[in-house]
Amino acid sequence: MIWFRRLHKWIGLAIGIQVGIWMLSGLMMGLLDHEHVQGHHYRTVSNVAPLPASSRNVLDAVDIVELAAVATQVNDISLRSYLGGIAYQVTTAGGSQLFDAVSGSRIVVSAEDAATLAKRDYSGPGQIVSIEPVQAPAMEVRRHSGEAWRVEFDDEEATTLYVAADDGRILERRNDTWRLFDVFWMLHIMDYKEREDFNNALVILVSLIAAWFSITGVVLFFDSFRREDFLALVPGGWWRSPARIAVCAPHGEVVARVSSFVGGRLYDELARDDIVLPSNCGGGGTCGLCVVNLGPDWPVSAADRRLLSAHQREQGIRLSCQAKVANDMVVGISDEVLSAQELTAEVVECRFLTPFIREIRLRLPG
Ligand code: FES
Repeated sequence: MIWFRRLHKWIGLAIGIQVGIWMLSGLMMGLLDHEHVQGHHYRTVSNVAPLPASSRNVLDAVDIVELAAVATQVNDISLRSYLGGIAYQVTTAGGSQLFDAVSGSRIVVSAEDAATLAKRDYSGPGQIVSIEPVQAPAMEVRRHSGEAWRVEFDDEEATTLYVAADDGRILERRNDTWRLFDVFWMLHIMDYKEREDFNNALVILVSLIAAWFSITGVVLFFDSFRREDFLALVPGGWWRSPARIAVCAPHGEVVARVSSFVGGRLYDELARDDIVLPSNCGGGGTCGLCVVNLGPDWPVSAADRRLLSAHQREQGIRLSCQAKVANDMVVGISDEVLSAQELTAEVVECRFLTPFIREIRLRLPG
């Protein structure tokens, strides 16, 4: 059980960092306004323009396919308004193309067209500060392919619209809220390069280790706690029968009698009566200092097995922080503990050895 506990501890430390990142990133993604993340707060609500009057003179769709000389199979062909005119959008496996529905000429989305389309889609207070071509997929348009125009506005969130160069669609609306969300998303799914694949090998591996950590935690829970631990949390419960503890010196003389309750922790019950046993772990069952003699027949706890030698256990030595008070029990205590006295000292140094352990150096008077 010792190696099991050690493994659990060290793996817990490593996994704990990632679990913390999962929780923090999940919390942050939940707190960020989804409207802002999607850039919908600066989106023009209705930008569907009615078809212009010229829609009565449009070419037939079959003519457009012939004019376009499309080599591959056409998946879709649709009529739509485009910058005050009307256009056919022809979609093939290779992408989309726009054709003027009246003249049949190919429409190329220029930087000026992209600026006009972006301004129509954008309802925020900013002005366009830059227009530049990008080749998708790029980080902010990673779910698309082909050429696009990157149109940036000078608002407080550095809103950036991506306009498809082949058919003028608004591909993405990005801003600083989305960029922050995207960092948390990357940390959450552990895909540090593409930021897309949440079934990647790393996240699966860490999830499996985290699951193992949880299962071992359940096993160690049953090893570390007993029913009495929980009963002792409730003071004055009806099940707490009074108990008497006889405290003996090593030669057998009874030096104190302590009134307590059955089921209480021996270490605490003795301390309540000013018999303070040495401890570095505050009763956590890890330092092995709070030893008393309860006799060889006293049950051996997991911590006893871990911290005491077989010889000590045979002699009846036990950790008092792991022992529960029984009625009329006899507790053997060493001379060092019995001869302990209270001293006043000066603190000369105080420093943390670990986040939970602090070293305090004292200077005795005289
Ligand atoms: S107080 Fe540390 S093991 Fe008992």
